[in-house]
Amino acid sequence: MINLHLDVKHAESFFEEKELDKLHHKLKTGKENLLNKTGKGKDFLGWVDLPSKFDRNLIQSMKTEAARIAEEVEILVVVGIGGSYLGARAVIEALQHSFSTLQENRKSPLILYVGQNISEDYLADLIEILDKKEYAAVVISKSGTTTEPALAFRILKNHIEQKYGKDKARKRIVAITDAKHGSLKHLAVKEGYTTYVIPDDVGGRYSVLTPVGLFPIAVAGFDIEKLIEGAANMEKHCIETNSLQKNPAMMYAIVRNLFYQKGKKIEILVNYLPSLYYITEWWKQLYGESEGKEGKGIFPAGVSFSTDLHSMGQYIQEGERHLFETVISIERSHKKISIPYDSDDQDGLNYLHKKTITEVNHKAEMATTLAHVDGGVPNLKITLPELNETTLGELIYFFEFACGLSGYLLDVNPFDQPGVEEYKRNMFALLGKPGFEKETEKITKRIK
Ligand code: PA5
Repeated sequence: MINLHLDVKHAESFFEEKELDKLHHKLKTGKENLLNKTGKGKDFLGWVDLPSKFDRNLIQSMKTEAARIAEEVEILVVVGIGGSYLGARAVIEALQHSFSTLQENRKSPLILYVGQNISEDYLADLIEILDKKEYAAVVISKSGTTTEPALAFRILKNHIEQKYGKDKARKRIVAITDAKHGSLKHLAVKEGYTTYVIPDDVGGRYSVLTPVGLFPIAVAGFDIEKLIEGAANMEKHCIETNSLQKNPAMMYAIVRNLFYQKGKKIEILVNYLPSLYYITEWWKQLYGESEGKEGKGIFPAGVSFSTDLHSMGQYIQEGERHLFETVISIERSHKKISIPYDSDDQDGLNYLHKKTITEVNHKAEMATTLAHVDGGVPNLKITLPELNETTLGELIYFFEFACGLSGYLLDVNPFDQPGVEEYKRNMFALLGKPGFEKETEKITKRIK
């Protein structure tokens, strides 16, 4: 039994059953290719059965190392970008206290992030904080050569060594990278850092359920076994269930492609809880990098409601009709606040007396869904009973499996990202990186 539920009720008036049937055969072939490793990008399908086959010794080792670090430090700095950053942040922010930076008596280190931008002020501000705090760093890069995290790590390594001395610094740095290749791997071996491996056959944006996501999540105090358990549960369901109606990943993949074919070229992932903001960011990378290629692909956008109902709401309701929405809806909150009675009722809110904030939020969600459907925006709804490690594990695997299927429906390789290299080449040329002399000459002429 899975906890995640996909509801297409508010999308059905936008398509006919027989349109789904037309795509169904291709979906089945896509699924076979995914499971038999016979489709495009077949060397990067290690994530498909990773949760059910997860190495118990590796979990134990990560838990022990995470506990050691958590005991010693107030802050863990995660250095990484893209798939080497977003998954961990998505899970941690979904589960941690909403105001974790101000939370007193926190049981686990505060997690901060660097290496996903090139802001000098951001780095300098971080160093200013780290000067006065006990901290450790985990540097994550599959290639081991990505400029943004490498740059941030050079500065952090320098700081940590000056603060604690080279020998003690070693114990405060963990590297997560390729088994054999890349400058980070070589540096980690030379310096003797604790190292965890990103499997060869798992690409960055599919790597949250490897040490890339699991180690920082464990240091933040969350149960990585439950996360894997939830994912394994969804893995079994996605693989074994062939009925479209009963397999949410298959249904999600097919419906979003149908909308794309009908000119709905933008999908908006909607959340009604600020803690889900980074789930949306993670999803945007997963779907954007997997599908946006060869002049094709649904553009993945995200909104946080109610906040964005007062900024993007107008466009969604009445702007160009090239949108569909997918809502992540959470049934129960962890904490309860009921609306109190007020004898003056100056704000006119007594009609909500005794209702909880979550009840009101759910009415806002339903009201918005119906309004958007009336405005021509189809709506898919993913429901989880509550946010915890198990349900997030299910959600992550659901989105990954559906993304693989969806990429195959679109006839692209959902596991590469050739387009990301373009800006890197230009940047290296502009910065004068050795080996890029010809490009430097060319680009200099373009910007004169
Ligand atoms: O999905 C991907 O492969 C990318 O988004 C990478 O995760 C990102 O570019 C970071 O790469 P690396 O882990 O090699 O530093």
